[in-house]
Amino acid sequence: MNNYKTIGCMILAFLLVVTGCSNNAENTAQVDDKLISDPNKVFIGFLLDTLQEERWYKDKELFEGEVDKLGGRVKTLAANGLDDVQFKQAELLIEEGVDVLVVVPHDAEVSAAIVDLAHEAGVKVISYDRLIKNAQVDYYVSFDNVKVGELQAAEIVKNKSVGQFAYIGGAESDNNAVLFRQGAMNVLQPLIDNGDIRLVFDQYTDGWDPAIAEQNMVQALKANGNQIDAVVAANDGTAGGVINALSTVGLAGKIPVSGQDAELAGVQRVVEGTQTMTIYKSINQLAAQAAEMAVKVAKGEDIATDGAVNNGEVDVPSILLAPIAVTKDNVRETVIKDGYLKEEEVYKK
Ligand code: GAL
Repeated sequence: MNNYKTIGCMILAFLLVVTGCSNNAENTAQVDDKLISDPNKVFIGFLLDTLQEERWYKDKELFEGEVDKLGGRVKTLAANGLDDVQFKQAELLIEEGVDVLVVVPHDAEVSAAIVDLAHEAGVKVISYDRLIKNAQVDYYVSFDNVKVGELQAAEIVKNKSVGQFAYIGGAESDNNAVLFRQGAMNVLQPLIDNGDIRLVFDQYTDGWDPAIAEQNMVQALKANGNQIDAVVAANDGTAGGVINALSTVGLAGKIPVSGQDAELAGVQRVVEGTQTMTIYKSINQLAAQAAEMAVKVAKGEDIATDGAVNNGEVDVPSILLAPIAVTKDNVRETVIKDGYLKEEEVYKK
């Protein structure tokens, strides 16, 4: 690739980074020296949907570190929740000669165009954490996301098995949000069918936005005269919004609320008692599996997977990791033992 084209791409990358994500100069700096360093190394493109949630920073750092350890180089771009920006970023990375694209799609359906584009250029695509639907995706690495929903609902039902429930889901554009809800309903539906539980509110949350989750919860409380006995919320971000709304009617810490992602604020609420549980997903494992997969794909080596997931078009060879339910009783044995969070920051010592 000649120098003028490289410089051209870098300027375009810079513009996309500035427009596409709230990420800072660090990203741009990282981009420059990776490109220049060693063109013979396998070159992985990592497309993130957003950096809105704390975990995606961990995914970025850990994935880049793992690929580095395997002798590859990475360029990471985040699209700030914008489909057209994510597509443009894919175009840019393909233009710059990536060997593989690792994608966290903003929209499960819209991102199918990225797979078609990549395949036209002979570039394989790995779906990271979230599945791209209805496209010839090459590999998928994530967690058992139906299990996530089952663990969330089961922990809530352990605390409250009868009454009026609300479901505060994630972004419907995200296939994971659909799987989380499916898992939760696997647990709740039998209790709804036998009349123990009434699901009086059930709503996805655009863009996984905590402020929208809070507004939805205010609406749910108003529509039910504050008679809500439990909330299954899809992640810690939405749980935080829900608990803000509950605190306005004196219900924070009085009714069980689920979460996910073991964010610091989420785990602090769990130990304080305003949130009942969160789901710990080892991003270390996810990033390591994805990096190993990406480097092998780039080198044309065989990939060992432990099954396949149908995405509406193909059975995608997949690796699904196990999620872990975290309550105040096992915080130390899980997120702290793994070094995911520190004792002093969780317990505010
Ligand atoms: C999901 C992801 C969750 C959560 C959410 C919001 O796809 O699996 O961990 O963070 O996105 O970004």
